[in-house]
This record gives sequence, C-alpha cells and structure tokens, in this order.
Amino acid sequence: MAALAINGGTPTRRRPWPRWPQWDSREEQRLLDTLHGDDWGGFTPVVAEFEQAFARHHGTAYGIAAVNGTQTLVAVLMAAGIGPGDEVIVPPYTFIATASAVRLVGATPVFADIEADTYNLDPIAAEAAITPRTRAIIPVHFAGQAADMDRLVPLARRHGLLLIEDAAHAHGAAWHGRMCGSLGDAGSFSFQSSKNMTAGEGGALTTSDRDLADAIRSRVNQGRAIHGAWYEHPNLGTNMRLSAWQAAVLLAQLERLDDQTDRRMASARALNSLFAEVEGIQPMRWDPRADRHAFHLYMVRYDERAFGVPRAVFQQALAAEGIPCSTGYPFPLYRQESLGPAFARAAPCPNAEQACREAIWLPQSLLLADPAEMEDVAAAVTRIRDHRHELARLALE
Ligand SMILES: Cc1ncc(COP(=O)(O)O)c(C=O)c1O
Repeated sequence: MAALAINGGTPTRRRPWPRWPQWDSREEQRLLDTLHGDDWGGFTPVVAEFEQAFARHHGTAYGIAAVNGTQTLVAVLMAAGIGPGDEVIVPPYTFIATASAVRLVGATPVFADIEADTYNLDPIAAEAAITPRTRAIIPVHFAGQAADMDRLVPLARRHGLLLIEDAAHAHGAAWHGRMCGSLGDAGSFSFQSSKNMTAGEGGALTTSDRDLADAIRSRVNQGRAIHGAWYEHPNLGTNMRLSAWQAAVLLAQLERLDDQTDRRMASARALNSLFAEVEGIQPMRWDPRADRHAFHLYMVRYDERAFGVPRAVFQQALAAEGIPCSTGYPFPLYRQESLGPAFARAAPCPNAEQACREAIWLPQSLLLADPAEMEDVAAAVTRIRDHRHELARLALE
C-alpha cells in the first residue's frame, strides 16, 4: 500500500474542501447599497435591521450589535456593574476572551471544570465554585453544542447570579428547541472570520431584559442614555459600535445560517457513525437536548494508547492527508499568565487538562461538504492507523 502523505505518498483527499467564508450576490448587493448610502457608521438603519433580525432569529426581544465577541462580553459585564472584588465563573477550556473579558472589567475569573465528554462547563463544578463574591456564570456553548442549561439556569437563579451565554460558537444552536442566546440573561456572539456567520470581525448581544438591553447599548455607545442628548454620557462606556458594512454582510450571512447548520449536523452525524468503528477515536457526546448543534468545531477524543501514535504526530499526518485539523488549546486558561499568575497555583481542572491532551478539532467549513465526503476523513484516519509503523520515526524526532 502507498506511503502516508506525510512520508511522500499521495494525500487521501486531493479535492479542496468548501471555502470559508461563503458569500454570493446577496452580500454584494447589500454592500453596494451601503456604499451608495449616505452613512457607513453604526447608526445606519442597516445596523438596526441586523440587530432586529438576529434577535428575532435567536428568540429574544433585543439585539445589540458590537465590534466583536470579546467586547460583547465586556459590555454585558460593564452593564451589570461587575468589577473589582467580584468573581465570575468561567470554564478553563475556551478561547481566552471568555476569561479576559472578566479581567478587563477588573473582576476575577474563577475556573470551574468542564464535562469530560462534551467539553462544556460542568454544572456541579460551577456550583462548587460559587462564593459570596460570585456575580455571574459564563457557560460557553462549546463547539456549538449548548451547555447543560437545564441545570445552569436554575443554579444561577437560586444564587441570584447573572447567566451570560458565551455563544461565540453557537449561532442558530438550540437546547430543547429554544435558541442559544435566549436561555440565560444575555447571549454573546462573535462574527470573527472563522465563525459560522462572519463579517471578518463583529459581535452581537441578545437579551429579552429591557433594562439590561438599555444598559448594554449605553456601554456600546459611549455611555449615552437611550434617548439622551448626544454629548451627555451618564455611564462610562466606549465605542463598540458595528459598522454598516459589517451589518450588511451579516444580514446576508444570517439568511444562509439554518441551511448551513443543517448541513453541518448531517456531516457530523456521518462522521459519528464512521468513527463508531474506529478504536482510539471517540466523537464527543451529542446531548439529545442540544437539538440544534451549530458544530463550529467537530471534535473527537484521541486515545494515543489505542492508536499507538502521539497526538501531535497523528494531527500532522491527518493534515498531510488533506484533512484540515488542529489539536486546539495547548493548556487550560488558568495557565495563561496574562490572566494573573495566581491562577497557576489554583486547583487544576482534570477534565480540561485531559481535553488539552486529547482533542482533535475539525473546522466547521469542512462539514459544509456533502455528508458523503466525510468518508474521506474516515479513510484518512484509517490509513494512518493501518500505516502507523511509518510514523514511529517521526514520533522519535
Ligand atoms: C468562545 C469564544 N468566546 C469569545 C470569542 C471572542 O470573539 P472575537 O474574536 O469576536 O472577539 C471567541 C473567539 O473568537 C470564542 O471562541
């Protein structure tokens, strides 16, 4: 049989995967309309149109657009008056923004472990992390699968905590038929280039709480009051407004979201059944209550012992076979020194540590291929397993 691609063989997959981002004449038309308009800024009607469409899509009364999915978290924390002396519970297996937003408002992130088989915040660990200083919990709907909101919502209510959904991966995702972003007090979304909807950069907040919506909008808009005078700034805020260009693109992207989510779920189902046969590759548990899974990432747990090849070598071999993939976060967030050296001494979160050792991520754009093409992914994995002796040399280097 031919050598592995990493050793000079022909890659299993030679055709390109779907490109990302995707766009068509809808984006073009809306961008031209914006170009020909008199205003390209954040107060242009197209921004309000996007905010309303996005909120409606996610089942909330209000939507507030903002520059990105980091500042959306900062804005909601500022709006809630969370700052120095306050604690906010976050998972350690997420992008740094979930925790750095907490630091940016002067509060302290407190890390609670994730579930081993979904990589979502573990409600039991979150409860154990509550102290008298806790003000909020930020579960991340990681990889596009809703966190266990059946337990997190009552937990937050019981303790009087704000529940902020970091839905940066979860556009159009749902839990028991209810959209992510409408399950807690507020939802925070990102439209950065890799995300399932994108304008290159961008963000949005969703909420059905009128007071919270007004307070957020004020922080996004230089602390102005909703119907206040232009040069009156009753709150401390900053300029986090989204531009008309981005809103124009996002309105077109939103039209495609449901079809693309269906496609990603179909491809993920295909991968789940293909991998059911492969020892050493375990897909994440798909909770049936997460009835719409956004699959921003398709993740598996890689078992080095079963496969006989170190994960880093496996990942390089898989990429060489034409399957885009990564190993994700190298270590949990409490080891990021910028968040504060004190965390390095904090109690470790064993499931997050394990996730950093075992995960393999495939990007959402791969799932936009025909579900039948997922066989190329499984074929590449099987080929690497069958030829693993060829990788022994690489592992030693
Ligand atoms: C879970 C999570 N939260 C927040 C963010 C921050 O979003 P942005 O890059 O738009 O600032 C990201 C990613 O970029 C993310 O993955």
